[in-house]
Amino acid sequence: MFTINSNFKSIAEVLVYLKNNNITNINERAIFIQDFIDKENLGDGNAHELYLENGSSTLMNVINEHSGMKKECILWCVNHYLSLNRNINVIEKTCKALYQFGTGCGTSAPSCGMSSLHKEIEKRVAKLVGKEEAVLFPTGFTANLGSISFLPSHLDLIIFDRDCHSSILNGIRLSKAKSIPFKHNNVADLEKKLQRYEKSFENIFVVLESAYSMSGDLSPLIEITDLKKSYSFYLYVDEAHSFGIYGEKGQGYCYEQGVSDKVDFIMSTLSKATSSVGGFLASEHKYCSLLRWSDAYTFQACLTPADAAVILACLDEIEDNPEIIKELHSKNKYMRDLLVSKKFNLGQSQSPIIPIMIEDHNKLRIVVKELFQEGVYSTPIVYPAVKINEGRIRLILNYAHTKEQIDYTVEALERICKKHHII
Ligand SMILES: Cc1ncc(COP(=O)(O)O)c(C=O)c1O
Repeated sequence: MFTINSNFKSIAEVLVYLKNNNITNINERAIFIQDFIDKENLGDGNAHELYLENGSSTLMNVINEHSGMKKECILWCVNHYLSLNRNINVIEKTCKALYQFGTGCGTSAPSCGMSSLHKEIEKRVAKLVGKEEAVLFPTGFTANLGSISFLPSHLDLIIFDRDCHSSILNGIRLSKAKSIPFKHNNVADLEKKLQRYEKSFENIFVVLESAYSMSGDLSPLIEITDLKKSYSFYLYVDEAHSFGIYGEKGQGYCYEQGVSDKVDFIMSTLSKATSSVGGFLASEHKYCSLLRWSDAYTFQACLTPADAAVILACLDEIEDNPEIIKELHSKNKYMRDLLVSKKFNLGQSQSPIIPIMIEDHNKLRIVVKELFQEGVYSTPIVYPAVKINEGRIRLILNYAHTKEQIDYTVEALERICKKHHII
């Protein structure tokens, strides 16, 4: 029987240990993970075993599955930036759609799984982001995975930002194209790579995010699209964290920066600002026709009519009340200014994703635990979501967070972080 003696302080340490010691066997890996979870459960439980009693909002009961402990917390982990998941118009329209369209679709798009709701989403999102057409997928993850693994060929090169989301990285892994990363948001490094490889491949695809999910920083899209004057490449931008919340009507960050026409493929999830699930890739008509032959589109059931109705109702809300976007950004400024005045390190972040950099994993774990005890729930971000030597608390600001909730959170963070000599 295989046994372990190690005393790991975080799941990141376990994963790094497994990697560094080349431990690949399924049973050995499972024992390491189970041992860590069992030890955590002797204490306060681990993050994977927490869930919400009544779903997402800004103040909800968090339950520990292992101990049954329940705690009311201000939540900073929800990506519904505009809080439309609790909007009464959205809920009412969705209930009506459920009666009219039923529950599931029963099959994938090519075998007639789509309804008029799905088709309307494709038309509306394409128009919003300024493209001819859009292809709808059941999740954002499979929109990236399906598109990136399918569009480039074995004669092509994918140059991707090093901090790209796992759905992009896994799409690249599945693709037949060669790939290399460029340094995060570093235009000079990207240009160096374009210069070096331009002649060696049939096509180059540059893949990046407009707002980064773990760091909240924005892509230098104008400088990157300017590179198209000197080099030939397709540009693929993931707008998961900017669609719906940048641009006066939520058209996204490419639109806000005035570069939509220079971006060949605009992707977004529909699980964040539009409070549902799903994802899309918007582009020229001919590329969308091609993408409809990808495995992820062909062999996956469509999102349910209720999910689709939520998306349409959220798009209606954003169109009818675009001032909620402005309000979100003014709260973002308020919270950032407050945190900076308390000397917190927010990295290069700008979007409503606010990371508090704490590299010491032990301190990070303690801070998250003590915040939880004070009724503030935030996610500790460690490897593999970020590099091995990095760590942070990620606060995702929602429209419904009140000034009081922001003030309470910052005050608790300040007190706890001072106690542990982080600020
Ligand atoms: C940048 C980015 N792209 C894609 C996805 C996948 O989207 P979804 O979770 O809606 O499948 C995420 C999810 O967090 C993301 O942050």
